[in-house]
Parts: sequence; C-alpha cells; structure tokens
Amino acid sequence: MVIVYRSNTGFTKEYAEMLGKAEKMKVCPLAEAQGKVGPGETVFFMGPLMAGHIAGIDQAVRQFAVKGVCGVGMSPASPQVLETLAKANYTNGAPIFYLQGGWAPKKVGWLKRRMVGMATKSMRESLRNKGSRRTPEEDRQLDFLLHGGSFVAFENLKAIQEWMEELTM
Ligand SMILES: Cc1cc2nc3c(=O)[nH]c(=O)nc-3n(C[C@H](O)[C@H](O)[C@H](O)COP(=O)(O)O)c2cc1C
Repeated sequence: MVIVYRSNTGFTKEYAEMLGKAEKMKVCPLAEAQGKVGPGETVFFMGPLMAGHIAGIDQAVRQFAVKGVCGVGMSPASPQVLETLAKANYTNGAPIFYLQGGWAPKKVGWLKRRMVGMATKSMRESLRNKGSRRTPEEDRQLDFLLHGGSFVAFENLKAIQEWMEELTM
C-alpha cells in the first residue's frame, strides 16, 4: 500500500510522512502520484478538510484503488466529526479516519482565512466572553483559533496503524 496525500499548509504532509516512516510505506503527494503509483497498488489517501470535504478525495478515488481514507482538520477528534465526514465524502466503501492537524492562518489566503473565521466565530466569541472565567484549556483553545497552532502527534496515528496491521495479517 502507498500513502498518497494532499496538503495545503503542511499538517497532512507531516502525518503522511510520519505514518510512512513508521509503517515503512512509500509516501507520495497526489499531484505527483500519476505514473508513480502503479495500477496494481493499493492506496491510503490523506487530505485536509475544507468545509467538511476531504480535499483531493474525489481525484484519488477516481485514479487509484483507495482502501482507506483519512481527513485532517483543525477540530478535535470525536465520533460526531467522523460521522459528518462519512456523510460528506464518497470513499467507494473504504473506511474513513480523522486526525486533528492544526491551523496555520498565515499560510492561507485572506478569503480562506475569512471562511474559517466565520465558521469559528461563535466559538471564539463565547470563549472571549468568558474573560477571566476561561480555564487554561479554554485559553489555549482561543489562542489556537486566533493565532493557529499544531496538534500533530504520533500517538494520534494509533487507530490507523492498527487497521493497517490487521489488513496485512
Ligand atoms: C477554507 C478552509 C476550510 C476548512 N474547513 C475545515 C473543516 O470543515 N473542518 C475542520 O476541522 N478544519 C477545517 N479547516 C482547517 C484545515 O482542515 C486544517 O488546518 C488542516 O490541518 C489543514 O491541513 P494541511 O496543513 O495539510 O493543509 C479548514 C481550513 C480552510 C482554509
């Protein structure tokens, strides 16, 4: 199996490379995969979330034998996030995973920054309104929404690694 990924600001790339190293798998950006990934090879596709859609998934499912998919977003992992992902993305039956990546407002254009700003507005406002009643965790959350940050961590890959190991057994 080959890991094919798309990444706009680098978080998905980081996870793809980390996973590739740990599982000794070839890792290839989607834009370079045509011709490099053989017709008989199976693919694990990873891509960033954009308004609930995993960027690049449609192309990947069309071009390759995708056996597993992973969306990388800025929100914390939860069963609800996975459920929404499964509804909004066509994977041709392949299982979907989710990883919390990060948020890099300085690396995206103003329009995208604004789109995310609008989507997180109510959360930011309610955190701001708490003022000194914010917990340290809520302080970190507000700082993340305003200035960005990374939640990329090797431990998050565990479920994917277990699934991959089951596949090869
Ligand atoms: C226009 C836009 C829409 C986004 N929509 C979502 C979303 O629906 N859910 C989410 O969790 N993150 C969303 N994000 C955040 C990215 O998915 C997140 O920063 C991700 O880690 C980026 O991965 P990358 O660095 O590989 O591009 C969005 C970001 C942008 C710029």
